[in-house]
Amino acid sequence: DWTMAEFRKTKIEEIRAQVGDGKVICGLSGGVDSAVAAVLIHEAIGDQLTCVFVDHGLMRMNEAEQVVSLFRDSYNIPLVAVDAEDAFLSGLAGVTDPEAKRKFIGKAFIDLFEAEAKKIGGADFLAQGTLYPDVIESVSFTGGPSVTIKSHHNVGGLPERMNMKLVEPLRELFKDEVRELGRELGLPEAFVGRHPFPGPGLAIRIPGEITKERCDILRKADAIYLEEIRNAGLYDAIWQAFAVLLPVKTVGVMGDGRTYDSVCGLRAVTSTDGMTADVYPFDAGFLTQVATRIVNEVKGINRVVYDITSKPPGTIEWE
Ligand code: XMP
Repeated sequence: DWTMAEFRKTKIEEIRAQVGDGKVICGLSGGVDSAVAAVLIHEAIGDQLTCVFVDHGLMRMNEAEQVVSLFRDSYNIPLVAVDAEDAFLSGLAGVTDPEAKRKFIGKAFIDLFEAEAKKIGGADFLAQGTLYPDVIESVSFTGGPSVTIKSHHNVGGLPERMNMKLVEPLRELFKDEVRELGRELGLPEAFVGRHPFPGPGLAIRIPGEITKERCDILRKADAIYLEEIRNAGLYDAIWQAFAVLLPVKTVGVMGDGRTYDSVCGLRAVTSTDGMTADVYPFDAGFLTQVATRIVNEVKGINRVVYDITSKPPGTIEWE
Protein backbone atom coordinates (compact mmCIF):
# COMPACT_ATOMS: atom_id res chain seq x y z
CA ASP A 1 0.00 0.00 0.00
CA TRP A 2 1.70 3.15 -1.33
CA THR A 3 1.39 6.31 0.77
CA MET A 4 2.88 9.79 0.64
CA ALA A 5 4.58 9.14 3.98
CA GLU A 6 6.45 6.24 2.37
CA PHE A 7 7.21 8.25 -0.76
CA ARG A 8 8.69 10.95 1.43
CA LYS A 9 10.94 8.45 3.24
CA THR A 10 12.07 6.73 0.06
CA LYS A 11 12.82 10.01 -1.71
CA ILE A 12 14.81 11.31 1.24
CA GLU A 13 16.99 8.18 1.08
CA GLU A 14 17.37 8.59 -2.68
CA ILE A 15 18.31 12.27 -2.39
CA ARG A 16 20.92 11.47 0.27
CA ALA A 17 22.35 8.68 -1.88
CA GLN A 18 22.49 10.87 -4.98
CA VAL A 19 23.91 13.97 -3.32
CA GLY A 20 26.32 12.46 -0.80
CA ASP A 21 28.10 15.36 0.86
CA GLY A 22 27.68 17.59 -2.22
CA LYS A 23 26.08 21.01 -2.32
CA VAL A 24 22.71 21.65 -3.96
CA ILE A 25 21.20 24.83 -5.35
CA CYS A 26 17.41 24.84 -5.67
CA GLY A 27 15.67 27.35 -7.87
CA LEU A 28 12.39 28.50 -6.34
CA SER A 29 9.85 29.79 -8.84
CA GLY A 30 7.21 30.82 -6.34
CA GLY A 31 5.06 27.86 -7.29
CA VAL A 32 4.04 24.80 -5.31
CA ASP A 33 6.32 22.35 -7.15
CA SER A 34 9.66 24.01 -6.49
CA ALA A 35 8.63 24.81 -2.90
CA VAL A 36 7.75 21.18 -2.19
CA ALA A 37 11.00 20.03 -3.82
CA ALA A 38 12.96 22.51 -1.68
CA VAL A 39 11.33 21.47 1.60
CA LEU A 40 11.82 17.77 0.79
CA ILE A 41 15.47 18.23 -0.13
CA HIS A 42 16.04 20.39 2.93
CA GLU A 43 14.68 17.58 5.07
CA ALA A 44 17.11 15.18 3.39
CA ILE A 45 20.32 17.20 3.42
CA GLY A 46 19.78 20.28 5.62
CA ASP A 47 22.22 23.09 5.05
CA GLN A 48 23.87 21.41 2.07
CA LEU A 49 20.92 23.07 0.29
CA THR A 50 20.79 26.71 -0.77
CA CYS A 51 17.53 28.03 -2.23
CA VAL A 52 17.62 30.77 -4.82
CA PHE A 53 14.55 32.78 -5.68
CA VAL A 54 14.92 34.74 -8.88
CA ASP A 55 12.49 37.61 -9.25
CA HIS A 56 12.41 37.97 -13.02
CA GLY A 57 9.92 40.83 -12.90
CA LEU A 58 7.36 38.51 -14.48
CA MET A 59 5.62 37.52 -11.25
CA ARG A 60 2.05 38.40 -10.33
CA MET A 61 1.05 41.20 -7.96
CA ASN A 62 2.94 40.95 -4.61
CA GLU A 63 3.98 37.38 -5.40
CA ALA A 64 7.72 37.83 -4.97
CA GLU A 65 7.32 39.27 -1.45
CA GLN A 66 4.97 36.43 -0.45
CA VAL A 67 7.39 33.71 -1.55
CA VAL A 68 10.38 35.26 0.17
CA SER A 69 8.45 35.69 3.40
CA LEU A 70 7.08 32.12 3.32
CA PHE A 71 10.59 30.67 3.16
CA ARG A 72 12.37 33.07 5.47
CA ASP A 73 9.67 33.40 8.12
CA SER A 74 7.89 30.04 8.10
CA TYR A 75 10.88 27.81 7.37
CA ASN A 76 14.40 28.06 8.49
CA ILE A 77 15.60 27.53 4.95
CA PRO A 78 18.33 29.91 3.81
CA LEU A 79 17.07 31.80 0.79
CA VAL A 80 18.96 34.01 -1.60
CA ALA A 81 16.61 36.45 -3.36
CA VAL A 82 17.90 37.87 -6.63
CA ASP A 83 16.25 40.92 -8.17
CA ALA A 84 16.77 40.28 -11.87
CA GLU A 85 13.92 42.28 -13.36
CA ASP A 86 16.15 44.55 -15.45
CA ALA A 87 18.23 41.69 -16.80
CA PHE A 88 15.18 39.66 -17.83
CA LEU A 89 13.21 42.54 -19.32
CA SER A 90 16.15 43.88 -21.30
CA GLY A 91 16.99 40.37 -22.56
CA LEU A 92 13.37 39.84 -23.60
CA ALA A 93 13.07 43.19 -25.39
CA GLY A 94 11.98 42.56 -28.95
CA VAL A 95 11.44 38.81 -28.38
CA THR A 96 7.97 37.79 -29.56
CA ASP A 97 8.21 34.07 -30.36
CA PRO A 98 6.85 31.94 -27.46
CA GLU A 99 9.62 29.34 -27.65
CA ALA A 100 12.29 32.04 -27.95
CA LYS A 101 10.89 33.61 -24.75
CA ARG A 102 11.12 30.26 -22.96
CA LYS A 103 14.63 29.61 -24.25
CA PHE A 104 15.89 32.98 -23.13
CA ILE A 105 14.25 32.64 -19.69
CA GLY A 106 15.51 29.07 -19.18
CA LYS A 107 19.05 30.13 -20.01
CA ALA A 108 18.91 33.29 -17.89
CA PHE A 109 17.75 31.19 -14.90
CA ILE A 110 20.66 28.78 -15.37
CA ASP A 111 23.15 31.64 -15.65
CA LEU A 112 21.85 33.17 -12.41
CA PHE A 113 21.90 29.83 -10.57
CA GLU A 114 25.48 29.31 -11.75
CA ALA A 115 26.46 32.76 -10.49
CA GLU A 116 24.87 32.03 -7.10
CA ALA A 117 26.58 28.63 -6.98
CA LYS A 118 29.93 30.34 -7.48
CA LYS A 119 29.21 32.65 -4.55
CA ILE A 120 28.78 29.70 -2.17
CA GLY A 121 32.01 28.14 -3.42
CA GLY A 122 30.45 25.94 -6.09
CA ALA A 123 27.46 23.58 -6.12
CA ASP A 124 27.39 20.02 -7.42
CA PHE A 125 23.66 19.79 -8.07
CA LEU A 126 20.77 21.91 -9.29
CA ALA A 127 17.35 20.93 -7.89
CA GLN A 128 14.12 21.57 -9.78
CA GLY A 129 10.45 20.82 -9.14
CA THR A 130 9.88 19.17 -12.52
CA LEU A 131 6.70 17.04 -12.61
CA TYR A 132 5.72 14.09 -14.76
CA PRO A 133 3.40 16.08 -17.07
CA ASP A 134 6.23 18.60 -17.68
CA VAL A 135 8.44 15.74 -18.79
CA ILE A 136 5.99 14.13 -21.18
CA GLU A 137 4.52 17.30 -22.67
CA SER A 138 7.97 18.47 -23.63
CA VAL A 139 8.62 15.24 -25.48
CA SER A 140 5.43 14.51 -27.35
CA PHE A 141 1.73 15.14 -27.21
CA THR A 142 -0.96 12.51 -26.53
CA GLY A 143 0.79 9.70 -28.34
CA GLY A 144 0.97 11.40 -31.72
CA PRO A 145 4.11 11.97 -33.70
CA SER A 146 6.91 13.43 -31.62
CA VAL A 147 6.04 17.11 -31.79
CA THR A 148 7.10 19.61 -29.17
CA ILE A 149 4.10 21.66 -28.11
CA LYS A 150 5.91 23.80 -25.56
CA SER A 151 9.45 23.30 -24.40
CA HIS A 152 8.69 23.85 -20.69
CA HIS A 153 11.57 26.10 -19.87
CA ASN A 154 12.93 23.79 -17.14
CA VAL A 155 12.91 20.45 -18.98
CA GLY A 156 15.51 19.02 -21.28
CA GLY A 157 18.57 18.85 -19.09
CA LEU A 158 21.32 21.31 -18.47
CA PRO A 159 23.75 22.87 -20.90
CA GLU A 160 26.79 20.64 -21.43
CA ARG A 161 29.25 23.27 -20.24
CA MET A 162 27.61 23.23 -16.83
CA ASN A 163 29.03 20.85 -14.29
CA MET A 164 25.99 20.66 -12.03
CA LYS A 165 23.82 17.54 -12.11
CA LEU A 166 20.05 17.64 -11.77
CA VAL A 167 18.08 16.61 -8.68
CA GLU A 168 14.40 16.26 -9.58
CA PRO A 169 12.62 14.37 -6.80
CA LEU A 170 9.10 15.04 -8.15
CA ARG A 171 9.68 13.71 -11.65
CA GLU A 172 7.22 10.82 -11.20
CA LEU A 173 4.44 12.85 -9.62
CA PHE A 174 1.29 14.53 -10.87
CA LYS A 175 0.12 17.84 -9.44
CA ASP A 176 -2.42 16.40 -7.00
CA GLU A 177 0.29 14.12 -5.63
CA VAL A 178 2.70 17.03 -5.18
CA ARG A 179 0.02 18.87 -3.22
CA GLU A 180 -0.47 15.77 -1.06
CA LEU A 181 3.28 15.58 -0.47
CA GLY A 182 3.31 19.30 0.38
CA ARG A 183 0.65 18.71 3.04
CA GLU A 184 2.60 15.70 4.31
CA LEU A 185 5.61 18.03 4.67
CA GLY A 186 3.52 20.60 6.57
CA LEU A 187 3.32 23.38 3.98
CA PRO A 188 0.41 25.77 4.69
CA GLU A 189 -2.84 24.78 2.96
CA ALA A 190 -3.19 28.23 1.33
CA PHE A 191 0.18 27.71 -0.34
CA VAL A 192 -0.35 24.06 -1.30
CA GLY A 193 -3.73 24.93 -2.87
CA ARG A 194 -2.37 27.70 -5.08
CA HIS A 195 -3.07 27.51 -8.78
CA PRO A 196 -0.09 26.41 -10.89
CA PHE A 197 1.99 29.28 -12.25
CA PRO A 198 4.41 28.73 -15.14
CA GLY A 199 8.12 29.37 -14.62
CA PRO A 200 8.29 31.92 -17.48
CA GLY A 201 5.52 33.78 -15.66
CA LEU A 202 3.80 36.71 -17.31
CA ALA A 203 6.18 36.48 -20.30
CA ILE A 204 3.93 33.81 -21.82
CA ARG A 205 0.76 35.72 -20.91
CA ILE A 206 1.73 38.76 -22.99
CA PRO A 207 1.68 37.57 -26.60
CA GLY A 208 4.02 39.76 -28.61
CA GLU A 209 6.54 42.08 -27.07
CA ILE A 210 6.99 42.27 -23.29
CA THR A 211 7.61 45.60 -21.60
CA LYS A 212 7.55 46.63 -17.96
CA GLU A 213 4.52 48.78 -18.71
CA ARG A 214 2.61 45.82 -20.18
CA CYS A 215 3.61 43.62 -17.22
CA ASP A 216 2.22 46.25 -14.84
CA ILE A 217 -1.06 46.50 -16.77
CA LEU A 218 -1.44 42.71 -16.78
CA ARG A 219 -0.63 42.42 -13.05
CA LYS A 220 -3.44 44.82 -12.21
CA ALA A 221 -6.04 43.05 -14.37
CA ASP A 222 -4.96 39.63 -13.12
CA ALA A 223 -5.18 40.73 -9.47
CA ILE A 224 -8.74 42.04 -9.95
CA TYR A 225 -9.80 38.79 -11.65
CA LEU A 226 -8.35 36.61 -8.90
CA GLU A 227 -9.77 38.81 -6.17
CA GLU A 228 -13.25 38.42 -7.67
CA ILE A 229 -12.76 34.65 -7.98
CA ARG A 230 -11.75 34.39 -4.32
CA ASN A 231 -14.60 36.62 -3.19
CA ALA A 232 -17.05 34.43 -5.08
CA GLY A 233 -15.61 31.36 -3.31
CA LEU A 234 -14.59 29.78 -6.61
CA TYR A 235 -10.79 29.65 -6.28
CA ASP A 236 -10.56 26.02 -5.17
CA ALA A 237 -13.00 24.81 -7.81
CA ILE A 238 -10.69 26.09 -10.55
CA TRP A 239 -7.39 24.52 -11.67
CA GLN A 240 -5.95 27.73 -13.06
CA ALA A 241 -7.32 31.22 -13.69
CA PHE A 242 -5.41 34.14 -15.11
CA ALA A 243 -5.55 37.16 -17.37
CA VAL A 244 -3.60 37.62 -20.61
CA LEU A 245 -2.82 40.92 -22.28
CA LEU A 246 -3.30 40.84 -26.04
CA PRO A 247 -1.23 42.76 -28.57
CA VAL A 248 -4.41 44.08 -30.13
CA LYS A 249 -5.95 47.50 -29.66
CA THR A 250 -9.64 48.12 -30.15
CA VAL A 251 -11.85 51.18 -30.07
CA GLY A 252 -14.08 51.83 -27.10
CA VAL A 253 -16.05 54.65 -25.53
CA MET A 254 -15.74 55.89 -21.97
CA GLY A 255 -17.66 58.87 -20.68
CA ASP A 256 -17.94 61.02 -23.78
CA GLY A 257 -14.54 60.07 -25.15
CA ARG A 258 -13.13 57.56 -27.58
CA THR A 259 -10.60 55.04 -26.23
CA TYR A 260 -8.10 52.99 -28.20
CA ASP A 261 -6.55 50.45 -25.84
CA SER A 262 -5.54 46.81 -25.38
CA VAL A 263 -7.77 43.75 -25.07
CA CYS A 264 -7.53 41.59 -21.95
CA GLY A 265 -8.33 37.87 -22.20
CA LEU A 266 -9.53 35.89 -19.19
CA ARG A 267 -8.89 32.18 -18.84
CA ALA A 268 -10.18 29.72 -16.23
CA VAL A 269 -10.09 25.94 -16.54
CA THR A 270 -10.74 22.81 -14.55
CA SER A 271 -8.28 19.93 -14.85
CA THR A 272 -6.70 17.16 -12.81
CA ASP A 273 -3.19 17.23 -14.23
CA GLY A 274 -3.01 20.06 -16.77
CA MET A 275 -2.83 17.59 -19.67
CA THR A 276 -6.46 18.16 -20.63
CA ALA A 277 -8.69 20.95 -19.41
CA ASP A 278 -12.28 22.16 -19.55
CA VAL A 279 -13.42 25.76 -19.58
CA TYR A 280 -14.78 26.90 -16.21
CA PRO A 281 -18.47 27.79 -16.67
CA PHE A 282 -18.73 31.13 -14.84
CA ASP A 283 -22.13 32.70 -14.95
CA ALA A 284 -22.45 35.74 -17.18
CA GLY A 285 -23.07 38.09 -14.25
CA PHE A 286 -19.73 37.19 -12.71
CA LEU A 287 -17.85 37.75 -15.96
CA THR A 288 -19.46 41.11 -16.71
CA GLN A 289 -18.65 42.29 -13.19
CA VAL A 290 -14.97 41.35 -13.66
CA ALA A 291 -14.91 43.02 -17.07
CA THR A 292 -16.45 46.23 -15.71
CA ARG A 293 -13.93 46.40 -12.89
CA ILE A 294 -10.95 45.75 -15.17
CA VAL A 295 -11.95 48.36 -17.74
CA ASN A 296 -12.76 50.94 -15.06
CA GLU A 297 -9.71 50.34 -12.90
CA VAL A 298 -6.91 49.40 -15.29
CA LYS A 299 -5.59 52.13 -17.54
CA GLY A 300 -4.59 50.64 -20.89
CA ILE A 301 -7.38 48.04 -21.15
CA ASN A 302 -10.75 48.90 -22.68
CA ARG A 303 -12.15 45.48 -23.62
CA VAL A 304 -12.31 42.05 -21.95
CA VAL A 305 -12.97 38.66 -23.57
CA TYR A 306 -13.42 35.20 -22.03
CA ASP A 307 -11.59 32.23 -23.56
CA ILE A 308 -14.01 29.33 -24.13
CA THR A 309 -11.53 26.87 -25.64
CA SER A 310 -10.93 23.47 -24.03
CA LYS A 311 -7.57 21.67 -24.04
CA PRO A 312 -7.20 20.09 -26.53
CA PRO A 313 -7.44 21.77 -29.00
CA GLY A 314 -6.35 24.86 -27.05
CA THR A 315 -3.58 24.81 -24.48
CA ILE A 316 -4.08 26.30 -21.03
CA GLU A 317 -1.62 29.15 -21.54
CA TRP A 318 -1.94 31.26 -24.69
CA GLU A 319 1.73 30.76 -25.61
P1 XMP B 1 -0.30 24.29 -21.39
O1 XMP B 1 -0.34 25.75 -21.70
O2 XMP B 1 0.82 23.57 -22.09
O3 XMP B 1 0.01 24.22 -19.85
O4 XMP B 1 -1.63 23.62 -21.58
C1 XMP B 1 -0.06 23.06 -19.04
C2 XMP B 1 0.44 23.48 -17.67
O5 XMP B 1 1.84 23.80 -17.74
C3 XMP B 1 2.07 25.15 -17.39
N1 XMP B 1 3.11 25.65 -18.31
C4 XMP B 1 4.39 25.82 -17.96
N2 XMP B 1 5.02 25.63 -16.79
N3 XMP B 1 7.05 26.32 -17.78
C5 XMP B 1 6.35 25.91 -16.70
O6 XMP B 1 6.94 25.79 -15.62
C6 XMP B 1 6.49 26.53 -19.00
O7 XMP B 1 7.17 26.91 -19.94
C7 XMP B 1 5.09 26.26 -19.09
N4 XMP B 1 4.19 26.34 -20.10
C8 XMP B 1 2.99 25.97 -19.60
C9 XMP B 1 0.73 25.84 -17.52
O8 XMP B 1 0.64 26.98 -16.67
C10 XMP B 1 -0.23 24.74 -17.13
O9 XMP B 1 -0.32 24.61 -15.73
